[in-house]
Amino acid sequence: MTYAAQSFANEHSLDRDCTTLSRHVLQQRQNFSPEAQDLSAIMSRIGLAAKLISRRLSHAGLVEGALGFTGGINVQGESVKKMDVYANEVFISVFKQSGLVCRLASEEMDKPYYIPENCPIGRYTLLYDPIDGSSNVDINLNVGSIFSICQQQGSDLDGEASDLLQSGRKQIAAGYVLYGPSTILVYSQGTGVHLFTLDPSLGEFILSQENIQVPERGPVYSVNEGNFWQWDESLRNYIRYVHRHEGYTARYSGALVGDIHRILMQGGVFLYPGTVKKPEGKLRLLYESAPLAFLMEQAGGRASTGTQEILDVIPDKLHARTPLIIGSKENVALVESFIQEEAEEREVALTAKT
Ligand code: AHG
Ligand code: MN
Ligand code: MN
Repeated sequence: MTYAAQSFANEHSLDRDCTTLSRHVLQQRQNFSPEAQDLSAIMSRIGLAAKLISRRLSHAGLVEGALGFTGGINVQGESVKKMDVYANEVFISVFKQSGLVCRLASEEMDKPYYIPENCPIGRYTLLYDPIDGSSNVDINLNVGSIFSICQQQGSDLDGEASDLLQSGRKQIAAGYVLYGPSTILVYSQGTGVHLFTLDPSLGEFILSQENIQVPERGPVYSVNEGNFWQWDESLRNYIRYVHRHEGYTARYSGALVGDIHRILMQGGVFLYPGTVKKPEGKLRLLYESAPLAFLMEQAGGRASTGTQEILDVIPDKLHARTPLIIGSKENVALVESFIQEEAEEREVALTAKT
């Protein structure tokens, strides 16, 4: 290679290695406004939280007290893992004294956590699922973290954070971290979906893919079929349909960040429907469904409850749950068509009776 060619190659790889999260936020905004700088700083702190969690996960089997259950039950009624607690605290720690985030609301906390020293200037709220897929933690399989950033509305004088009960379209940015063979971070601030890979030698998230687009349709359907008999007939009919048609393949890891990442990259649909006993399903709107819906829409896909766009749902409480059908446009529409068909048949049967 000539000196000129070598120098061009160096410059190119340096350029790539310098596209960190914080720089990327500013590049996308194309300005240095106070809002752009805030978001850049927030994303950089989320990156730090992800690095701390990734570090602990990478050798958890060797760290005393890192794995297993705490013995406690969280606000969701689920058994808490030690890693859930650790990751929850990591997010709080990285935002203390940052002057950025006034409130943090997480799946693991009954009420939002306020950082009073930030509140006079930090008008942002971070909503997050610190460890998604915690059943995978103790067996060294993929897990994730999910986050959403909102601007505080009003003054929250009663400390109830009721302004967070709003449509997912109000999110400023959202994303997830996937702790897999590599640790990656996928985010959107409303200008496309971008993927960063943690380079352990640099200790930095470096841009590895910009403007990800989910395929219009894909082969994967990702759902816990163990719940088959608890679903509504419409969902059972959809599953019967994919069983009887060529071109579908099932993938389900027990951590929706991993399952949805596969779909984002390769197309398909992830479902967590409601059951007859629990029509609202399992997944939490503010910490899971809404941030992932924001990303999927930005990538050209869709997210629906079956009858409504996820981003249009207004929750009645912080820990509200919704059914989730998310992924490639055509796959989501196919699932919805079964739900619609069943609703129409019920309507006809009801009219015939009256
Ligand atoms: P979390 O670990 O944050 O409670 O989330 C678990 C979620 C989700 O990641 C996954 O897709 C789903 O629960 C798995 O639930 P089932 O075991 O009922 O399939
Ligand atoms: Mn989760
Ligand atoms: Mn969780």
